[in-house]
Amino acid sequence: MSTKKQRRMHITRIHYFSGLTITIFIVCHLFNHFTSVYGAEVHIEIMENLRLVYRNIIAESILIIAVFVQIVSGIKLFFSKRKNKTNFYGKLQVWSGLYLAFFLIIHVGAIQVGRHILNLDTNFYFGVAGLNTFPLSLFFIPYYGLAIIAFFGHVSAIHYQKMKKKILGLSVEQQSKFILTIGIVITAIIFYGLTNGFTGVKIPEEYNIMIGK
Ligand code: HEM
Repeated sequence: MSTKKQRRMHITRIHYFSGLTITIFIVCHLFNHFTSVYGAEVHIEIMENLRLVYRNIIAESILIIAVFVQIVSGIKLFFSKRKNKTNFYGKLQVWSGLYLAFFLIIHVGAIQVGRHILNLDTNFYFGVAGLNTFPLSLFFIPYYGLAIIAFFGHVSAIHYQKMKKKILGLSVEQQSKFILTIGIVITAIIFYGLTNGFTGVKIPEEYNIMIGK
């Protein structure tokens, strides 16, 4: 086997394990956002409980290192694999991965700046300030929407590649389509919650800096 191929397999394995680590956080994180359909207070209460698990020096260091490894290995894989992916799920995997890399750089960077430089509590209001303020919402709707859909798209593409069996009579392609569809529905429900049922959230004054006030 050529060393180039060996190196690519090594990067794929690293990417797979850092991806699994981040996925545990993302599933909890998206569940947290889902609970915003019950109101901002419920979202904040659940985030405070989840923070007991992920906001300690060990868990957070593991998460940030995994995010960094995921971005670097993902960008390398994008450039080495992009041309070999010809079917829909192959293309979905590389392009959703590229968007997730872009999103994670900005998103995690923004959270760190919010917390350590602006000294804000990066809670519900920090996350949704731009989304609920026109014209910033024109950026935040596709920015967040594509991130959640890209996450499910990436999972659905990996499922298509790895799964070999039918489940409940559904072919592998139908299962992957199902994962993607569920992702789109979850995105719509999360947006409903994060915008107070599409009526808009009143942002507390301490977050004015986030919306240029
Ligand atoms: C509507 C969509 C989203 C919103 C409003 C949002 C908002 C937030 C907020 C407010 C935090 C800070 C949490 C805290 O202080 O405890 C956070 C952290 C984080 N989010 Fe998101 N998020 C969204 C989607 C995503 C997605 C799709 C991903 C991954 C693909 C993601 C990855 C992360 C990561 C890795 C952190 C931890 C950053 C750190 O601790 O520095 N988020 N997000």
